[in-house]
Amino acid sequence: MPDTGITKILIREEEIKKIVEELGQEITAHYQQSGGELIVVGLLRGSFDFMADLVRKIHYPLVVDFMAVSSYGDGTVSTGDVKIVMDLDESVEDKHVLLVEDIIDTGSTFKKVIRMMSNRNPRSLKVCTFLNKPSRRKFDIQIDFCGKDIPDEFVCGYGLDYAQKYRNLPYVGVLSV
Ligand code: IMP
Ligand code: MG
Repeated sequence: MPDTGITKILIREEEIKKIVEELGQEITAHYQQSGGELIVVGLLRGSFDFMADLVRKIHYPLVVDFMAVSSYGDGTVSTGDVKIVMDLDESVEDKHVLLVEDIIDTGSTFKKVIRMMSNRNPRSLKVCTFLNKPSRRKFDIQIDFCGKDIPDEFVCGYGLDYAQKYRNLPYVGVLSV
């Protein structure tokens, strides 16, 4: 394996392309039916690769914005609060919001982001994630558009990191930690 620490390739570039293409078609069809202004919100940093590819496969007028959040806590136990590190530039009031995440694991962070976003009175709020680890879920989250369910393994690449590294890998690989 050319990339140190990666023991197995879980999703190759060609499969990523296919997943993104299919999600783009689903999302396009959904908003073509509903109509109205659409703002696609990526959660930094993990979603940046996926966002860039995904929005090019959504054939519907849209605005792109980003938000960065971090969880309070000592790293092992989350205290359950989420802190906005970088907020949106755009108002989401009365607009369709599509939240884009790299991976939903326990759902702890995302649950709060969803609640915070719905308090800003969007016209609708939908969730799109590239990867999903259903076996680890602790908080119930409705995922409207899901790229792929994966087993409980720590993955890196295509935006996903381990200690901020590996985000540039063009595939998703399993990391041995
Ligand atoms: P949650 O709040 O437990 O759902 O955590 C979600 C966040 O944890 C994601 O946005 C990722 O940043 C990170 N994460 C969870 N699983 C993985 C993984 O397998 N690889 C890299 N990051 C992960
Ligand atoms: Mg993340």
